[in-house]
Amino acid sequence: MLAASIITTASARARQGGTPAPAQETLTQKANREAAGKAPRGPFAYSGASGYTNYLGGGVGRSPVQPIQFPHPVHVNTLKLDCVYCHFSAFKSPDPGLPAVSTCMGCHQNPMILPKSAEIAKLRDYDTKKQPIPWVRVHKVPEYVHFPHMRHVSAGVTCQSCHGQVNNMPQVFQYASLNMGWCVGCHVKGYAPAEGLLAAGYTPDSAALAAPRKRATYDCSNCHY
Ligand code: HEC
Ligand code: HEC
Ligand code: HEC
Ligand code: HEC
Ligand code: HEC
Repeated sequence: MLAASIITTASARARQGGTPAPAQETLTQKANREAAGKAPRGPFAYSGASGYTNYLGGGVGRSPVQPIQFPHPVHVNTLKLDCVYCHFSAFKSPDPGLPAVSTCMGCHQNPMILPKSAEIAKLRDYDTKKQPIPWVRVHKVPEYVHFPHMRHVSAGVTCQSCHGQVNNMPQVFQYASLNMGWCVGCHVKGYAPAEGLLAAGYTPDSAALAAPRKRATYDCSNCHY
């Protein structure tokens, strides 16, 4: 059906005989174009020494192709959706959560949004079949490590401090090593709210600049079961 409608449009253009009008740039294309270059590009080469950064394969720069090419830039930068609109349990659970298909369909059931997009056709297909989208996990610490999102997010640590500017990544990639030295380094030195805001692309205000670093425990048993 979708392919048929594209073919119909193309042949209608061909019949008119003129050159096709310059393709109208979609919000998604615009957001991805503007985002490109704002964040370091992944995947990039990494040679780290720590054991488990390759836990899922890849370590820093790991950027698996997803079942649907979901663009963070258009949803966060252009449509201004909050991270926790989709990662709904970041404040209350160790696991930040991934959005249900119904969250996506809240908007994408509207047939006016990119009616010819193959990616949105895939989304509709999962919805019709009542199947969850099999997103490929990007970040993972080993099973013996305890990582509570809510403790960090509630303490005001910005997502981007640890994940980089996901809002500028057309395809999500692993930004930080996630190794023990990285965790302990921040716990010992302390999290500076101003640095966290900068990492997220905001200009820190005077309150943030004056705020003391937030230190955290480095007892083995806090991070290891
Ligand atoms: C409209 C919903 C939506 C919004 C808003 C959103 N995300 Fe996501 N996010 C997703 C989906 C869907 C995935 C899985 C597909 C992918 O990796 O692109 C994902 C994946 C991720 C991942 C990788 C997860 C893994 O497997 O390790 C991170 C990190 C992430 N998002 C962070 C953020 C941050 C930070 C923000 C705000 C700046 C944000 N997201 C806003 C839907 C959203
Ligand atoms: C608040 C409404 C809203 C929500 C929620 C939302 N989207 Fe979108 N999405 C949009 C709009 C608007 C566009 C941009 C259309 C354009 O580029 O003109 C878009 C673009 C896209 C694109 C780009 C398609 C292409 O061919 O370029 C994909 C893929 C997509 N969304 C998937 C998802 C998925 C998966 C979810 C759930 C995790 C989701 N969206 C949640 C409104 C939303
Ligand atoms: C202190 C660093 C840190 C902060 C802050 C942080 N994350 Fe994470 N995130 C991680 C680590 C480490 C993992 C891997 C956790 C694991 O394997 O249990 C992860 C995993 C994820 C995943 C994948 C989880 C899954 O079940 O697929 C998503 C999505 C995610 N983070 C989103 C976010 C969002 C959104 C925020 C901000 C609201 C955020 N993170 C803040 C470090 C962080
Ligand atoms: C960017 C800084 C930063 C990074 C990176 C970071 N943390 Fe934290 N972490 C914090 C802060 C700040 C707190 C304290 C929150 C509070 O005061 O409630 C904290 C708290 C915690 C706690 C709760 C401690 C308690 O008292 O119960 C655990 C567990 C934890 N972190 C594990 C980890 C692990 C595991 C990693 C690496 C995968 C990690 N953190 C990476 C900043 C960080
Ligand atoms: C802030 C969180 C945190 C604290 C505190 C912490 N660890 Fe870890 N540890 C990790 C993470 C994350 C990993 C997995 C990533 C890696 O291998 O670097 C890890 C991995 C390890 C490993 C496996 C290394 C390997 O190469 O396989 C050992 C052993 C270990 N930790 C021992 C300890 C001991 C002993 C302490 C106390 C002195 C401690 N850890 C404190 C987060 C922590």
